Amino acid sequence: MAGEIDEIRARIDIVDLVGQRVQLKKTGKSYTGLCPFHEDKRPSFTVNPMLQRYKCWSCGEGGDIFTWVMKTQNVEFPDALQTLANQAGVTLTNRSADKSSRSDRSLNLEIMETALTFFRDQIAKSSIAREYLDGRGLNTEVVADWELGYAPDVGEALAVHLQKKGYSLSLCRTLFLTEEDTSGGYYDKFRGRLMFPIRDERGDLVAFGGRVLGDALPKYINSSDTPLYRKGRVLYGMNKVAQAKSKVKPRQIVLCEGYLDVIACHRAGVQGAVASLGTSLSEDHAKMLGRWCDEVVILYDADAAGQKAADRAIEVLKPEKIPIRIALMPNGEDPDTLLRSQGPAAVVNAVKEATLPTSFRLDQIVASHVEKGQAFWTAVVEALGQASDIPEIERHIERLVSMHAGVEDQLYVRETLRKQVLARRKSSRQNNSQATAPSFQMAVSDLLPAEATLIAALLTPGLRTISHEALVLPELFVSESGRGFSHGYVSVFGDTAPTGEPSVWIDRMEPAMQDIVQRCSTDVRFNNLSDRFVKDAIDKLRMLLEKRHLQFIKQKEDPDRLSKIEQTLKRLKGDSR
Ligand code: UTP
Ligand code: MN
Repeated sequence: MAGEIDEIRARIDIVDLVGQRVQLKKTGKSYTGLCPFHEDKRPSFTVNPMLQRYKCWSCGEGGDIFTWVMKTQNVEFPDALQTLANQAGVTLTNRSADKSSRSDRSLNLEIMETALTFFRDQIAKSSIAREYLDGRGLNTEVVADWELGYAPDVGEALAVHLQKKGYSLSLCRTLFLTEEDTSGGYYDKFRGRLMFPIRDERGDLVAFGGRVLGDALPKYINSSDTPLYRKGRVLYGMNKVAQAKSKVKPRQIVLCEGYLDVIACHRAGVQGAVASLGTSLSEDHAKMLGRWCDEVVILYDADAAGQKAADRAIEVLKPEKIPIRIALMPNGEDPDTLLRSQGPAAVVNAVKEATLPTSFRLDQIVASHVEKGQAFWTAVVEALGQASDIPEIERHIERLVSMHAGVEDQLYVRETLRKQVLARRKSSRQNNSQATAPSFQMAVSDLLPAEATLIAALLTPGLRTISHEALVLPELFVSESGRGFSHGYVSVFGDTAPTGEPSVWIDRMEPAMQDIVQRCSTDVRFNNLSDRFVKDAIDKLRMLLEKRHLQFIKQKEDPDRLSKIEQTLKRLKGDSR
């Protein structure tokens, strides 16, 4: 039991666990947030990753991962232990589980292992199997490492073997090893096939996949659901991920399409490759990935089916909130053929160069719309609305805006696109209860003085209206924090400046924004803000915007626009002395 508890502690990070409920912000070596155990106005709740403990300095609540689950889910220790064991993929041994079902399981596993030993003996003896392995470049090391076997093409070789060992063939039938014929005899489910044993996270042998040696159909036969196996819950290769217990962060899992792709990835040096088996990615698979890794790279074929499967995997993984990247294989290749035709570096590179889901979607959209007309832009807005954060949206807008033919004013195109995307984003968030509020990475040190001035001015009643007019224009802001603040501001207040006591409306902002307002307004530089001071700040930002614009037009070499902007710049310079 103590060993299991330690194992759970090693696998679950308290920052992740608490972070599922409390929005945490990194401050030095620990994390802070609003305490969930009392009405907290300022963040007084801290989580210490080194000690793996949390503590509220205001109400005094504190503890570790186990007390956290007990307190937040209102359960006793055994239930908390079970919950965390499930999350960590740790099996608890001395639960008072039903004795008979436990012995059933161990008998079933024993039969599976017996079958595997048989298949592995056969592969050593079969010349056709060895010939096939040679043809595919699968050497003895791979065969040993992945415990590959061979099911001979004799009607009941395995059945006879299992019967000799004293196992009931009708029991073997429930494990998808044998089948009953009309006369009451038994024959083998897998015949003349290369056998891939499938082990679950714990390493238990729960199923098999078998590939024909030639071109006959079906290419693969996989165990159907049995008392040991549910295909929606097991990923091929997951046992190796679990064994590795990698402490290297981020732990990455590469999701492939098939058995041989998983093996090819490992051979290429890409650890943590797994595949769902004869089924598309299920919710349970996604949960399992969420438990075991910090990033999923989807490595599917580039064909239409592969792209569709990737789209689906992205959807299924969404609730897990794990970062995803997508790598499509060069046309007609899979990791296995790529490894053999171009070597391990090609596979490693494919994983390295995987793109974010939004880029992946946009590439699809750009490729499928020859005419960049209304339909194209509608699809673009839809895709950008799914982007994970504002900076990512901004980067794409920069890139896409040059595809807008016919409209001269790029600034206008950008503003329009941005408005549509944010509206789309807002409505998809409302429709999706699982989505969380957008979270901006903001640091006061990142703000330009002019940006900080505008934020500080929010708290001076006479200056609020002028600063509001600038704060609703994200384009105007240069730093990522400033732009993030502006986006957040628009989504909270929209077109109407807040009125009344700041202590009332400031609560509508997310904590990171509140923090920024707090810091800017107490900054000595802004002690005596005047109308002129704020207007100068706005002019300064306008000027920087026009300069960026100029840069952009220069790249486009458009002399007309150029002189217009230069005039504007001159005027602004004159204005702001
Ligand atoms: P593929 O057809 O891409 O096969 O199916 P593969 O893995 O690349 O195998 P080779 O290289 O042609 O020998 C991908 C995966 O889909 C499942 C298997 O898990 C397979 O690895 N599959 C495919 C089936 O379950 N049944 C099938 O009939 C075909
Ligand atoms: Mn293949």
